[in-house]
Amino acid sequence: MAPVPAGNVILVGFMGAGKSVCGRLLARRLGRCFVETDDMIVASDGRPIAEIFRQAGEETFRRLEGEAVAALRLKAGEVIATGGGLPCREGRMEALRELGTVVWLRGELTELLARASRSGARPMLDGRTAEDIETLYRAREPYYARAHLTVDTARLGVDQVVGRIVAALRDPHVARV
Ligand code: S3P
Repeated sequence: MAPVPAGNVILVGFMGAGKSVCGRLLARRLGRCFVETDDMIVASDGRPIAEIFRQAGEETFRRLEGEAVAALRLKAGEVIATGGGLPCREGRMEALRELGTVVWLRGELTELLARASRSGARPMLDGRTAEDIETLYRAREPYYARAHLTVDTARLGVDQVVGRIVAALRDPHVARV
């Protein structure tokens, strides 16, 4: 079986896609370091994400995400989990694709939201109606779809998702678009 490519593996997808949980397990399985762009932002800014949103607004957060992407150029062979909105600006997917293999964890919106509501503060969901959130999701899909690989996560557990990611990374016949 072909080896997993040596470069970074970058996970993208909507809130609740399992980027953090699956990323951590994937890194352990591959013997690699794991990093989250949200953690990089918190470490450099000093405030939790929800506070950055509250005090400085979304645009400031998106600028900090841009700085995190630039800092990722120093990474080699790591597993990187990105925030759900990070790839959804012009040029961001292209920048991520230059860093390694980008994998979209695609799920069903109802499942994603159920998971997202169970863990952590999610400022992008606060005060939004179900319709607003669906609109946001649909607007983001075309960005995520520019990933090299797509792994469907619907009704799968973490272990199964990670298994699928590893298989997709190893399979030279999987289309890399
Ligand atoms: C965001 C997703 C969050 C975090 C921030 C904004 C978004 O990360 O970066 O709250 O815009 O979708 P997760 O995708 O890990 O929840």
